[in-house]
Amino acid sequence: MKLILLGAPGAGKGTQAQFICETLGVPQISTGDMLRSAVNSKSALGNQVEQVMASGALVTDEIIIALIKERLQKADCNNGFLFDGFPRTIPQAEALAEAGIGIDLVLEINVPDDEIVKRLGGRRVHPDSGRVYHVAYNPPKLVDCDDVTGEALIQRADDAEDTVRTRLKIYHQQTQPLVTYYKELMSSEGKTRFVTIDGVSAVEKIRDQIAHMITSG
Ligand code: AP5
Repeated sequence: MKLILLGAPGAGKGTQAQFICETLGVPQISTGDMLRSAVNSKSALGNQVEQVMASGALVTDEIIIALIKERLQKADCNNGFLFDGFPRTIPQAEALAEAGIGIDLVLEINVPDDEIVKRLGGRRVHPDSGRVYHVAYNPPKLVDCDDVTGEALIQRADDAEDTVRTRLKIYHQQTQPLVTYYKELMSSEGKTRFVTIDGVSAVEKIRDQIAHMITSG
């Protein structure tokens, strides 16, 4: 199965992606995680994108499309994949379509901006695995420690409130048009399902709704 998780920064894409990938046995392809890993390893790509990411702006379509094309060559994508944070612009979605990559299901997680600002202020992340927590809504078993490895959790540099507001503005301008794009695709070619989920409820409740969507075909 080939899925896209669409939603504003902080809508809960990464949180739900972990569960969906375990259920379907497909890899999570998070362009954000791939870019952060490039920044941490100080590669040429990482140096190129570091400032852009810190500002909350989007990395260029050319870089992202090349990154995705390379990632899709890996054997673990043969039975499907979950895109988390991609596509984020109309040109990125068009590049997918031009490459002949059909999508079975687009899941939009919908959360109001003010709730997102609250969420991202309390987010903690395990950098190596991408596991995501929230100090109040989804706390780790031990404060600031990853449940699986026990290693320290961090706060992302782009989770400062001003940067979150910039990211939300960019989301509404550049990414939200994909909702119309995929809804129109669903009515014109009928292969891609588009579903919107209310993202303001408990993590487990949203997980159950998503489980129903992905198993109901
Ligand atoms: P990226 O890493 O993709 O960040 P994002 O889309 O901004 O999304 P987030 O990871 O911030 O949020 P999320 O929806 O995954 O929420 P989460 O599950 O963590 O991108 C970072 C940057 O990389 C971009 O700004 C850009 O520069 C660049 N980039 C990446 N992809 C790109 C692309 N395709 N094109 C161009 N540039 C690109 O949850 C958030 C918090 O809420 C957590 O603390 C979690 O525990 C909590 N939470 C989750 N669900 C709930 C719930 N139901 N109730 C209460 N709390 C909840």
